[in-house]
Amino acid sequence: MTSGVNLDQGAEMIVVTGATGGLGGATVEHLLKRVPADQIGVSVRDPAKAQHFADRGVRVRQGSYEDPAALRDAFAGAEQVLLVSGNDPAADMVSLHRGAVDAAVAAGVRRIVYTSQHGAVPGNPYGPSDIHIATEALLADSGVAWTALRNGAYGPLDQVLGPWQRTGDIAQPADGPVPYTDRADIAEATAVVLAGARVIDGPVTLAAPAAVTFDDFAGIASRLTGRSVKRVVVEDERWVADQVALGVPEQLARLMLTWYQASRAGYFAESGTLLAELLGREPRTVAERLAVSLDPAAG
Ligand SMILES: NC(=O)c1ccc[n+]([C@@H]2O[C@H](COP(=O)([O-])OP(=O)(O)OC[C@H]3O[C@@H](n4cnc5c(N)ncnc54)[C@H](OP(=O)(O)O)[C@@H]3O)[C@@H](O)[C@H]2O)c1
Repeated sequence: MTSGVNLDQGAEMIVVTGATGGLGGATVEHLLKRVPADQIGVSVRDPAKAQHFADRGVRVRQGSYEDPAALRDAFAGAEQVLLVSGNDPAADMVSLHRGAVDAAVAAGVRRIVYTSQHGAVPGNPYGPSDIHIATEALLADSGVAWTALRNGAYGPLDQVLGPWQRTGDIAQPADGPVPYTDRADIAEATAVVLAGARVIDGPVTLAAPAAVTFDDFAGIASRLTGRSVKRVVVEDERWVADQVALGVPEQLARLMLTWYQASRAGYFAESGTLLAELLGREPRTVAERLAVSLDPAAG
């Protein structure tokens, strides 16, 4: 059984879930620069993978969203929990998030900070939007203070743009403006929020200040490489067929297609200043990120 509320650690403890993943792990690294290690905990599915945090004085406890009792134990004593959204397409993620929110409330957590998604509003055709909308509603009903960081698209640019360095073409479905954001910047800003520099209630967009299209990317890539990089619009069904031919399961390809559909419908067009304000500097631009990703072998 779990202990009750705020008994086994200092009241200022911050517990981060998903800390063996990309965003959660980087957030803990930034938190370690801002708060003492003994005020940081992680709730992870496999504690062995968090040994590097334990070695630095971070409290490591086992917790998966499928196991509410373990989560209550992992959250015990926490003032705040960073709830990193899960990403299993086969799971009922809303139910799992509900269990995590309930466990945080039962553990006496005062604020839940949730990693939501840019453009998580009704009507957004991108599949995971509904999970984030429903989870934000759970948080609103939870009775505790909550923050939803609607994170901008932070996938690696080579995944976003495809093999343009080899082919010279950005060949993807029709798109719209998106403030592509560096995951490292989002992690740093998330740590700033958790460390208490700024209190944010409810949902906010956390994304790079400039929204760009694949046409813009083609221009940036051409300037950076001195080659003529072309934007080629691939018809939706042709793109799905191409992905399947590359070995991507059709269901996943169709899910990704909804992302392009959302982008061209303008659901990701909003940018903002919050990320820069939290970082106290300009976020990394797509041009800076593209420059470091250039493959010299691609010539
Ligand atoms: N805004 C964007 O562009 C964007 C892009 C990709 C994903 N996302 C969302 O943001 C989340 C974090 O992104 P990321 O880049 O850090 O992804 P990631 O590296 O795949 O990390 C996901 C983390 O969630 C944990 N997790 C998954 N299911 C869980 C469960 N049932 N119980 C407990 N923990 C669970 C994983 O645990 P393990 O370490 O044990 O696997 C992992 O640590 C993703 O899960 C997804 O919902 C957003």
